[in-house]
Amino acid sequence: MNPSCGGAGIWRQRADVVVVGTGVAGLAAALAAHRRGRSVVLLSKAPQGEGSTATFYAQGGIAVVLPDAFHDDGDSVDAHVADTVAAGAGLCDPVAVRSIVADGYRAVTELVGEGAHFDESTPGHWSLTREGGHSRRRIIHSGGDATGAEVQRTLNHAAATLDIRRDHVALELVLDDAGAVSGVLVLSGDGLGVLHASSVILATGGLGHLYQATTNPDGSTGDGVALAMWAGLPVSDLEFIQFHPTMLFDQGSTGRRPLITEALRGEGAKLVDARGNPVTAGVHPMGDLAPRDVVAAAIEARLAETGDPCVFLDARGIADLPARFPTVTAACHDAGIDPTRQPIPVVPGAHYSCGGVVTDVHGRTAIDGLFAAGEVARTGMHGANRLASNSLLEGLVVGGRAGAAAAEHAQTSRPGRVVTPSAPQRPVASRAELQRAMTRHASVVRTGTGLAELVDVLDAAPARTIKSHRDFEDAALTAVAKAVAAAAQARTESRGCHHRADFPATDPAQAFSRTLVPEVAGS
Ligand code: FAD
Ligand code: SIN
Repeated sequence: MNPSCGGAGIWRQRADVVVVGTGVAGLAAALAAHRRGRSVVLLSKAPQGEGSTATFYAQGGIAVVLPDAFHDDGDSVDAHVADTVAAGAGLCDPVAVRSIVADGYRAVTELVGEGAHFDESTPGHWSLTREGGHSRRRIIHSGGDATGAEVQRTLNHAAATLDIRRDHVALELVLDDAGAVSGVLVLSGDGLGVLHASSVILATGGLGHLYQATTNPDGSTGDGVALAMWAGLPVSDLEFIQFHPTMLFDQGSTGRRPLITEALRGEGAKLVDARGNPVTAGVHPMGDLAPRDVVAAAIEARLAETGDPCVFLDARGIADLPARFPTVTAACHDAGIDPTRQPIPVVPGAHYSCGGVVTDVHGRTAIDGLFAAGEVARTGMHGANRLASNSLLEGLVVGGRAGAAAAEHAQTSRPGRVVTPSAPQRPVASRAELQRAMTRHASVVRTGTGLAELVDVLDAAPARTIKSHRDFEDAALTAVAKAVAAAAQARTESRGCHHRADFPATDPAQAFSRTLVPEVAGS
């Protein structure tokens, strides 16, 4: 990295590859680029590492097909692909799914080579659990239900010598006069600056804070999707926001809420309503282990029918609950619940963006030199509903590939003339108002009337100059909320995570992903 000072009060520095984000996808990408001899700078908008990524909070595990010798229940790449495609409700790209799934064991083995430890059932054999939509036990986990913490710890350790800048917010992508990426406009403690690079990788994670309550950490504000749209890139499948069926319920609580992992259901926990009646009986052949969109919709339907504020996950039958699920047990204890004696109150919570910046399975976007990987990207892996534990898998595989492709690009590209950017002007809605409107009108069940009200709220957002981290996040949330609303309005059917009360049936004629042009986001 070559530091230098620029004019016009803007600091300037240069690297071969800039990676925005330090979760599973960003770190996997940065390590791959670094190993190819490129200079790499990683940016994280969070002031400290601990707990600032969704990766850190991942519980259930990583879905991966082990080589034949390691399992005896007939699992195969074909079976994992079939489950992923079935969960995706007609919108997965099967070629992309196969490419990522088939590379999973290699990627996990590489992580183990960096020091990751996964739980074992017998020495030398990983313990495999099940989650919704999986026809086989194929999910490896660590620390019981603390898989993300182990993935994050391992990658942090491997990247310990890399140049990681915390409290650095990527505000805008910088393009050259030929339309190729040439860096990132950054807000740091030193003010505005430009990190010049011929390869930039967006690994900014998800957008759960579009909603009042979410399983996501504070920084999941859709930044990468907004940055891409502002640069003119297509985004796709944004209407498919996955609501995890079991977020810990606490009346009126907002912000990041604890997840109650689906693996509990994989180990026998049952979803019941306040009267003890099963929630998913007769809804789907897989019952409580149906894909997430099905279970979340069943819970919403039961809550609408009963008027109750939550349903319950009864995990009392799991013999070694505190040892097998220490994260969930601790979250319950913090809320005054003993999960070995009491059913756990749960509601669906905003959890994961199935859509995002359109990329191929190497993270390449339509802008030369710009890559995206992890939750921010839409590779075609998840379609209309992501299969459980496929996200860490995708982050590892596509993150690594994007880092390799970015390294190669940085070696061969010739930078064009750069236009010096300045602090941008963007529409900025009040976060509380936006979250209220999104929660009311764009949650598990949507209607055309509600979405029109949401659009009215978003369209009233005044434009202002982005001067702070908070301004930037609010502008990103505003742009992404507009894109979600537009996508949800356009899809006049119910499919995967997108349920329209006014169009309850799936329409075979809409079995395609819609790509939004950036102007739709009102940017
Ligand atoms: P993240 O890990 O969220 O990292 C995003 C990074 O981008 C952060 O470093 C952030 O600071 C940075 N950033 C964002 N915007 C900017 C900006 N403008 N400037 C600078 N930096 C920025 N998936 C599974 O496969 N298995 C599981 O068991 C599982 N459990 C989950 C449990 C929970 C509670 C949650 C929330 C998610 C879970 N998921 C799970 C989903 C999965 O964890 C995430 O999709 C995945 O970790 C996302 O990784 P990422 O690298 O894309 O983003
Ligand atoms: C969970 O553990 O239930 C979350 C897994 C995921 O989001 O893939």
